[in-house]
Amino acid sequence: MADDSQEPRRHRIIWTEAVDGRERYQLLTSLVVPRPIGWVSTRGRDGVPNLAPFSFFSAVASSPMLVSLAIGKRGGVAKDSLRNILDQETFCVNVVTEAHLDVMNRTAAGLPPDGDEFDFAGLAVAEAETVDAPYVAACPAVLECELFKQVDLGEAGGLVLGEVKGVRLDPALPVVDGSAFVDSEGLRPVGRLWGSAYSLLGEIRIVPRPEF
Ligand SMILES: Cc1cc2nc3c(=O)[nH]c(=O)nc-3n(C[C@H](O)[C@H](O)[C@H](O)COP(=O)(O)O)c2cc1C
Repeated sequence: MADDSQEPRRHRIIWTEAVDGRERYQLLTSLVVPRPIGWVSTRGRDGVPNLAPFSFFSAVASSPMLVSLAIGKRGGVAKDSLRNILDQETFCVNVVTEAHLDVMNRTAAGLPPDGDEFDFAGLAVAEAETVDAPYVAACPAVLECELFKQVDLGEAGGLVLGEVKGVRLDPALPVVDGSAFVDSEGLRPVGRLWGSAYSLLGEIRIVPRPEF
């Protein structure tokens, strides 16, 4: 039954400075949900392709078309994806769909810098057209990006803004009539909840904007 009381709830307040980093991470990632997953493909200086998922990922603007990625550190050192993006100034964001949920998870393995997650996960690699970066050949929707801006987050790693130079779409993906919206039922996107929990597409509700 809906709780329509207008009384303020008796909330429990957690001061973020009073809890440890693990608890802050658990609170943040279970409350900012579901998050899209940017499945990021890059190339290292040695030419080896790299692939890893990042759910601190968001759309930022449409003109120019910008996306953001926050990439943490591992053992105090920048993760391969961040290092490659800063070196090469290009990357691709592969949209994670239901069909790729398990294989996406495999690519989160912390391989050494010269490890190839495409190979490790049994995924074919292809080359983007508008930027010099690899992408997941079997992915139905890919954002081909150029580095737009980088913000050093200190201990938290780096925030990267990428400008989408090309949108790669499988022609079999349906679009909403009379628009460029890709139909979510056809795309079947996956969202990240907490830890190893993910959300699949549920019921879609169309809620028109109110008119004044
Ligand atoms: C669904 C999912 C989302 C993730 N999101 C992030 C994230 O937003 N930021 C981050 O630093 N690591 C994130 N990780 C962990 C990285 O994918 C993992 O550390 C990976 O090994 C990094 O690879 P790299 O060193 O090749 O860049 C995520 C893992 C999974 C499975």
